[in-house]
Amino acid sequence: MLRILFLALCGLLTHTRADPGALLRLGMDIMNREVQSAMDESHILEEMAAEAGKNRPGVKPIKGITNLKVKDVQLPAITLNFIPGVGIFQCVSTSMTITGKSFMGGNMEIIVALNITATNRLLQDEETGLPRFKSEGCEIILVSVKTNLPSNMLPKVVNKFLDSTLHKVLPSLMCPAIDAVLVYVNRKWANLNAPMPVGQMGRVKYVLMSIPTTTASYIQVDFSPMVQQQEGNTIQLADAGEAFKFPEGYAEGSSQLLLSATFLTAELALLQKSFNVNVHAMKIGQLPPQTTKTLAGFIPKVSKAYPTSKPLVTQIRINKPPKVTMKTGNSLLHLHGTLEMFAARRRGKAPVSLFLLESHFNLKIQYSVHENRLQMVTSLDRLLSLSQESSSIGAFNEKKLTGFITDYLQEAYVPVINDALQVGFPLPDFLDMDYDLAELGIVENALVLDLKLN
Ligand SMILES: *[C@@H]1O[C@H](CO)[C@@H](O)[C@H](O)[C@H]1NC(C)=O
Repeated sequence: MLRILFLALCGLLTHTRADPGALLRLGMDIMNREVQSAMDESHILEEMAAEAGKNRPGVKPIKGITNLKVKDVQLPAITLNFIPGVGIFQCVSTSMTITGKSFMGGNMEIIVALNITATNRLLQDEETGLPRFKSEGCEIILVSVKTNLPSNMLPKVVNKFLDSTLHKVLPSLMCPAIDAVLVYVNRKWANLNAPMPVGQMGRVKYVLMSIPTTTASYIQVDFSPMVQQQEGNTIQLADAGEAFKFPEGYAEGSSQLLLSATFLTAELALLQKSFNVNVHAMKIGQLPPQTTKTLAGFIPKVSKAYPTSKPLVTQIRINKPPKVTMKTGNSLLHLHGTLEMFAARRRGKAPVSLFLLESHFNLKIQYSVHENRLQMVTSLDRLLSLSQESSSIGAFNEKKLTGFITDYLQEAYVPVINDALQVGFPLPDFLDMDYDLAELGIVENALVLDLKLN
């Protein structure tokens, strides 16, 4: 009894535990760029310099030195390192000149080079659910001190100065700079879980599945994306246990986004209705005229029922959600539906159904990214099955129609699919990522975007 309960419980647990639908690996390339651009955007240096020039309440004046000023804060060099399980270690190296008047009346100038270090812990914000960096343990390390003071004054005054001032003043002056930079980095995650439209059909939301994890060479963000129809219904990602993982062999420091076939399948479900069509045209691409006469070439019974040729009307209805599959280097879109052919009648009269076929066919998908949306273009791969459901012209061998239907799908139907696919699918919006430069690859059960920086 217990055993059964245990098994049932396990079943329940494995069922509810969803696999991530999308994974993101952020290498040092992106983090470096982000911190650097946050540094530029935050104008942190100007602020630091301005801040340094102010009188600071609570800081005792230094005996023997008056008119203290900080100037020439140098453009900092930033070094980042991943700390596994924690986040990013940040070191900002800069130098500045401190000027003042010594009690002997001379102008004093001290040039200090220093490192500001802190640990940027990666968290998930409880309110927004977004990733967030929080700095901890900010420290100031003096790298070198040079001064123009006469050498006999040096040890005493400078040591005193360093002790009482730099170590007290610099952290409160410099550490907010680290925080200010992080505010800018954190802001660039802000759009990440905002819903993004898929045409008029629905929207996609990249929801974080858990706190991002940090390893020695990247930060990994797991998403359980939410795909919602316009009316608000959520399309569940199939939990088919189709394992996928990052392929090996990407350059150290590089970044990748991986989108699972199950996620793309859910996104395509949004378009299912737009895959239904009625085709009235007589002349389609390279196809022979769409008439009962052409059809009679394959099924002679048609000419008995329609001695004078009538235009054909074709209706395709996709009656199962489309499914995307991926094998290394190859991705297919599986479509199941009905194909019904009608003979048109004179104006005002409804066309007459000739036959209805159940059909399963595959399209080959080619992926690309345009304006930060994932684009798909398809071409017919194979007509897999064709079976007769009903016929008003009597039974016939549907195999005879294989060539005709195959050509029809490629020429008349695939363009309809490609048209619907033009809406494109949104990609996670964070850190100003530009996906247009990404190199795409298909692996087992997933599409990989190898992200390139511009
Ligand atoms: C200051 O930072 C630079 C760059 O990270 C590093 O090479 C240097 O060793 C640091 N100096 C000290 C004294 O920590």
